[in-house]
Amino acid sequence: MQQPDLKKFPEGFIWGAATASYQVEGGIMKTDWARAAEDGRVPFAGKACDHYNRYEEDFDIAKSLGHTGHRFSIEWARIEPEDGVFNEEAIAHYRKVLEALHVRGVKPFVTLWHFTLPLWFSETGGFERKDAPEIFARYCSYVVSRLGDLCTDFSTMNEPNVFASNGWLRGSWPPFKRFVLTDIVSITNSGRSFESKAERGLTPLFTYLRVICHLAKAHNCAYEAIKKVSPLSDVSVVKHVILFRANWNPINKAIAWIANYFWTYRFMNRVYMKCDSIGLNYYFQKKFGDKKVYEKTDMDWDIYPEGLEESLMMLARYRKPLFVSESGIADYRDVYRGDYITKQVQATWQAIQRGADVRGHMYWSLLDNYEWVLGYEKRFGLVEINYETLERTIRPSAYIYKQICQQNGV
Ligand code: BGC
Repeated sequence: MQQPDLKKFPEGFIWGAATASYQVEGGIMKTDWARAAEDGRVPFAGKACDHYNRYEEDFDIAKSLGHTGHRFSIEWARIEPEDGVFNEEAIAHYRKVLEALHVRGVKPFVTLWHFTLPLWFSETGGFERKDAPEIFARYCSYVVSRLGDLCTDFSTMNEPNVFASNGWLRGSWPPFKRFVLTDIVSITNSGRSFESKAERGLTPLFTYLRVICHLAKAHNCAYEAIKKVSPLSDVSVVKHVILFRANWNPINKAIAWIANYFWTYRFMNRVYMKCDSIGLNYYFQKKFGDKKVYEKTDMDWDIYPEGLEESLMMLARYRKPLFVSESGIADYRDVYRGDYITKQVQATWQAIQRGADVRGHMYWSLLDNYEWVLGYEKRFGLVEINYETLERTIRPSAYIYKQICQQNGV
């Protein structure tokens, strides 16, 4: 029987979870991350969840959990292992993946690029290259021309600001360039021996800004190229939003405004005209002047699922259909996840009441997976992975989400 106070979602609302190729598939070579692992700078991804071979089993689980949509990404290095050379076998694989979703009545949402770059591209400068937008657009339009009959929803890229700031400001991800105000050090790695070069001045900051600019252009260029081969496809960008907030203090309010501008609006202002919809990835907030102590996720992030509402409202200003493309919690013991999901979904419902045109909600992630520099320790999955045996175990919180999906309400 339906709960009397059920907060219902619009008819046809999509419920599901997300994954990304490098984090779950296994066996991906010739990328900047695989090279960084060989060089001992990041953990090996290895066979990951072996999702490349077990996608059918995983989609059976998703279906059994009431999911009606699934977001996943295509591995650029599989499709275009050499500059301008496209691999038909890789296309055939992703066609089978898409068909497997259709057979189960689960709508696919494809992200064309989720952080990892083919080696030929990263080693020649990656998104620092002036012609990166055209190279990226060529890849995107190729994939859509080959998969567009099996999928209508394509996101060009995942979290451009996270990619650029980790790679060019913090220096924690490939290409490991770090911006330090006093002593700017860029560590580059050619071959196997580390060679570090100190760059002084503002050059690394300018490189970062150039990369951001190229990413925005790359999205816009890819949008145009995709529309040429598949005019009816829905093309989006997936944007990571950090919700910067402040207490009463006007100085804190100004800082939060500036932070939101530089993290979210600056990029979105450049691309929203070439978006049919926008995906939102939300994980955490930062409230300036806040003394409250929050409970923490296993990532040491404040537990604040309520922030999803305001984050959706930040993107609602662009007046496009929105979808929650990722939002989730690392919670090894599965003690917070159920409540987190419930609050997350309530926040999404609340944003819809305030006028945001939200069409779907994807929890991050369907499976435990490779959490980038942190390897396999952090557990985001609705489904637990035993990395020794690759056995899948559905976590109790997944059933809380299942009820929400099946009721289309919370
Ligand atoms: C990324 C995922 C990542 C997740 C949790 C998102 O920013 O898209 O790849 O695993 O956050 O950190």
